Amino acid sequence: MSFIDGFTSPILVASGTFGYAKEMDGVIDFSRLGAIIPKTVTLLPRSGNTPPRTIETASGLLNSIGLDNDGIDEFLLQKLPYLRTLKTKIIVSIAVKNIEECSILGEKIERACDDAAGIDAVELNVSCPNVSGGGDFATDPKLCEQVVQKMRQALSLPLIVKLSPNIWNIGEVAKGAETGGADAISAANTCLGLAVDWRKQKPRLGNGFGGLSGPAIKPVALRCVRHIYTAVKIPVIGIGGIETIDDVMEFFVTGASAIQIGTANFYKPTATMQILDALPSALAELGAKTVAEVVGTLEL
Ligand SMILES: Cc1cc2nc3c(=O)[nH]c(=O)nc-3n(C[C@H](O)[C@H](O)[C@H](O)COP(=O)(O)O)c2cc1C
Repeated sequence: MSFIDGFTSPILVASGTFGYAKEMDGVIDFSRLGAIIPKTVTLLPRSGNTPPRTIETASGLLNSIGLDNDGIDEFLLQKLPYLRTLKTKIIVSIAVKNIEECSILGEKIERACDDAAGIDAVELNVSCPNVSGGGDFATDPKLCEQVVQKMRQALSLPLIVKLSPNIWNIGEVAKGAETGGADAISAANTCLGLAVDWRKQKPRLGNGFGGLSGPAIKPVALRCVRHIYTAVKIPVIGIGGIETIDDVMEFFVTGASAIQIGTANFYKPTATMQILDALPSALAELGAKTVAEVVGTLEL
């Protein structure tokens, strides 16, 4: 049994693509989602990167938001009270600049849970491609283990570690996270990319490089899920280019126990609900009643 089994459904919404949920109020039924993961928060406020911050590409979206957020104190004060009222689980997404920040951030979240319940898990985002300084945690298995261990010491809540697809040995990094005390791995964040305006001889994004998301990255995300699934014993949460029930089933058979919808929330806000409607009959096609029966059944 993992904490994911306690979710109403295996369909979650990905950090940075669902705002702080208020934006989607009335559009979808939150209570059918396994969990909502709001935008990543950092210890101190961040103003983010120079605009333009998003650009459409072929079957994808390239973004360079730069973890724009008001910091953990504002999040706990201004955003969490609303999130707490929703009839679904809330997974708080956090990112740290260095290992030292783990205990301060972790303690602030623990204290908020003591004051009132309402945070069900934490997703540690070690993989934002737009923020210098965080990269190494997602590329070096030992460093990943150390940052997760530090966060584990500060937090009693279930801890998910969100990895980057921009490496070849994601299974090794996932093992580092597992050894450090992670309860689950989510994969993956965006793929590092570049969009170019050749006439101006300039990048299209204000920050130059950005993170690619959407249908274009699904094969990369599936590769990540498979490598992690075969490397660790903790559950894998699949993310990347998921829009339809077929995408979701591909992730389940590849090894994901749950999935997150990201970019699709922007262009098909009801994607999660359509997927949930279609899930029982898709499982039945494989002779299954539960997601657990099909996880990792891919012959590879
Ligand atoms: C505009 C935008 C902002 C994002 N912000 C965050 C973020 O704050 N924290 C995070 O962990 N991931 C962030 N992501 C990454 C998504 O959560 C997700 O991992 C990625 O987009 C791949 O999934 P998708 O192809 O379904 O969008 C962001 C993605 C987009 C498109």
